Amino acid sequence: MVFIRSIALGASIVGIIGVSSAAQVLTARQEPWVPGTQNNTQEFYVTLKATTASLEKYNGWTLQAWHTGAGLADPVFASDSPSPAFLNGTSLQFDVSPYPFGVDALPSDENYGRWEPVTITSGYGSGPWVNNEADGLQVNAEESDGWLVCEWSHGDNAPQLFQLIKGFDSVGTSPNDVPATCGRVLLIPEWI
Ligand SMILES: *[C@@H]1O[C@H](CO)[C@@H](O)[C@H](O)[C@H]1NC(C)=O
Ligand SMILES: *[C@@H]1O[C@H](CO)[C@@H](O)[C@H](O)[C@H]1NC(C)=O
Repeated sequence: MVFIRSIALGASIVGIIGVSSAAQVLTARQEPWVPGTQNNTQEFYVTLKATTASLEKYNGWTLQAWHTGAGLADPVFASDSPSPAFLNGTSLQFDVSPYPFGVDALPSDENYGRWEPVTITSGYGSGPWVNNEADGLQVNAEESDGWLVCEWSHGDNAPQLFQLIKGFDSVGTSPNDVPATCGRVLLIPEWI
């Protein structure tokens, strides 16, 4: 299957960079954002929890780095080969390389769009990411309005993560008025 092969390709770029031991990474965590709501003590998989019925088939799939260029990846969910992640202060990072590899999700609306891309890049990414427990991983920024997942440029059965932009998200539209292959999701940490 083309899909599985592509996922393997994504994983192999991580392999090229190299795989570090989790223990080494765990030593350097920062202090939590709000005591009791953020867990910097343990790694997790970022799992998809659909709040739109049509996406329920992806429940439990985990966020992976889909290679799009050197040190750059699109956030795509897959049913296998989960990538361990952790919160470093308010950075969401993947523990897949000796080098930092973080998720960029700071909303910065420039085109009045209802949603924007999320990317995975070398470095600490952007957020600030917090763990709001029942509502899962979120970005604590004024424009942030949660998560949209779409079957997008990486094809069927490769749901990709986007960020919804508050203010533009619901102007003149129902919150669930999105393309048929898209839907809202929560990002729930599955502690490893
Ligand atoms: C956590 O982030 C800080 C920068 O904010 C960085 O210096 C540190 O190396 C990071 N820790 C890990 C484990 O990546
Ligand atoms: C953090 O993770 C530990 C280990 O699984 C767990 O015992 C604890 O309840 C978690 N804390 C929060 C705030 O989720």
